[in-house]
Amino acid sequence: MSPALKKAAAFPLLTDALHRTQSEGTQIYTSPAAFEAFIRGGGNVPLYERVSAELASHYTSSTRSLLDIGCGDGHALFPALAATAHPHTLERLTLVEPASALLASAVARAQAEQPTLPLQALNEGLGAFAAKLQPDDHWDLAQATFALQAIPEPERWAGLARLRAHVKRLVIVEFDIPDLERGSDDYIASLAQRYERALGEYEGATRDLVAQGFLIPMFLGQLDAQTAATNWEHPMPVWREKLESLGWRVTRLAHISDYFWAPAFVLVAEA
Ligand SMILES: C[S@@+](CC[C@H](N)C(=O)[O-])C[C@H]1O[C@@H](n2cnc3c(N)ncnc32)[C@H](O)[C@@H]1O
Repeated sequence: MSPALKKAAAFPLLTDALHRTQSEGTQIYTSPAAFEAFIRGGGNVPLYERVSAELASHYTSSTRSLLDIGCGDGHALFPALAATAHPHTLERLTLVEPASALLASAVARAQAEQPTLPLQALNEGLGAFAAKLQPDDHWDLAQATFALQAIPEPERWAGLARLRAHVKRLVIVEFDIPDLERGSDDYIASLAQRYERALGEYEGATRDLVAQGFLIPMFLGQLDAQTAATNWEHPMPVWREKLESLGWRVTRLAHISDYFWAPAFVLVAEA
């Protein structure tokens, strides 16, 4: 067997999805239906269950105010609020989300699921939000799930530094990615393994939809050195070091869920 065939045999689902991309002339696009099928299926289901359970464990009897940075449509937040052991403690919820459509979905869900909880919904990113903070702005808990990776580093670190005077505790969830140089052989082999696993988590027509509309465009974008980065991830120890250098005191750092991309971890820090 030729080396190329051997490699293809090691990644049958990925090889098949790539062939279809070429042979059907599929446009590289990100389709909302494909992203929806991706995020509501496969390994995302246990991942989000675990993330929401972790968040809920930090909503204690003294958590009266909660800030969610980059809440998206609230896919992690609302199941966590529903699962808290202290449902009547929370007095206000603040959502910070620059994507208008996602914020609108989160607000609609808040109105449906938490109709009595006072809500502040801010259609802006962390940088703009942090720049406007007033001395008496305060939250007992700030959380960010898979959102800080989407924020360019200068905005992210400056925002988290400013936030420390306004928040008692910070809970973040991100992926503990392997420390590999973009474009290296090890990086490409790791990407192929990870996408092969992801494709195997879906079946039939859903697999095709998720592959052509989301996973393959993502995979090709990550292979292409010219594609501009849209997220800035780090291995878990880097998050700890950076937050400690900003004055946060990290009290918990642990993997909480296995996932195709990398294990998800939680970091809890006191201001
Ligand atoms: C992968 S999604 C995670 C959404 C949600 N927290 C969840 O767990 O499902 C990343 C989110 O970060 C948001 N985001 C992007 N840039 C941001 C910024 N500068 N400040 C705050 N959030 C940002 C995106 O709009 C998106 O909703």
